[in-house]
Amino acid sequence: MCWFVLKKKHSVVEVLLSRITKVEECDARDDDSSSAADSTIILCYNILIHMKQANSRRFFLKTSSVLAAFAMIPRTAKAFYEEVKNFFVPNKEVLPLTVSINKKKYSIKADTRTTLLDLLREDLHLTGTKKGCDHGQCGACTVHVNGERVLSCLTLAAMVPGKEVTTIEGLANGDKLHPMQQAFIECDGFQCGYCTPGQIMSAVACVNEGHTGSVAEIKEFMSGNLCRCGAYNGIVQSIQKVAP
Ligand code: FES
Ligand code: FES
Repeated sequence: MCWFVLKKKHSVVEVLLSRITKVEECDARDDDSSSAADSTIILCYNILIHMKQANSRRFFLKTSSVLAAFAMIPRTAKAFYEEVKNFFVPNKEVLPLTVSINKKKYSIKADTRTTLLDLLREDLHLTGTKKGCDHGQCGACTVHVNGERVLSCLTLAAMVPGKEVTTIEGLANGDKLHPMQQAFIECDGFQCGYCTPGQIMSAVACVNEGHTGSVAEIKEFMSGNLCRCGAYNGIVQSIQKVAP
């Protein structure tokens, strides 16, 4: 019985050795087929070399069992990886988009999965809109679409053609700041400034939509915009300053 198992293991090793020879032949020819060199086989090759050096029967038996398991892998690790990747990552689909941002028309091609935030920052280089959490929790990415505030990290770029998008870059009138931008400066409505574009876009919407009746109402409306520097008092004062 023992001899039978050993003989079996020997035959596995022989098969592997013949496949290794094939791989080496491919490498020697340096043609395309060499790219199909199975990483599993290369690993086996290294193990066999090591096994030969170890010169131990126990090690030989253990190792040849592992090699037998490797030999049962039906395809290369690379092909397997490709299949897993294709399963989880759908093929890229690119769509032509014509969008109006800050009253300027842009005709671009974008992946259908692109968010409005990434379109603004990565494709159009309008980096005034900030990426904080990228999950709809901090408000740093707030912009206006048709005058209403939206979180651009949760809005697909494919949803905005035919609508007017306004970002922080589109608020000022040339060199003249928007009254809300001016108020933020005068009331110390920011410290590091990272959340500020989103705060200002929300603050403008707060005034436009008439939610400035009280400090509590302003705070409620602005509650989706977080400020790690804690500039909340200055932000509320800025909004009160601009409110009618
Ligand atoms: S980046 Fe969009 S909500 Fe935080
Ligand atoms: S000013 Fe720094 S996070 Fe708001």
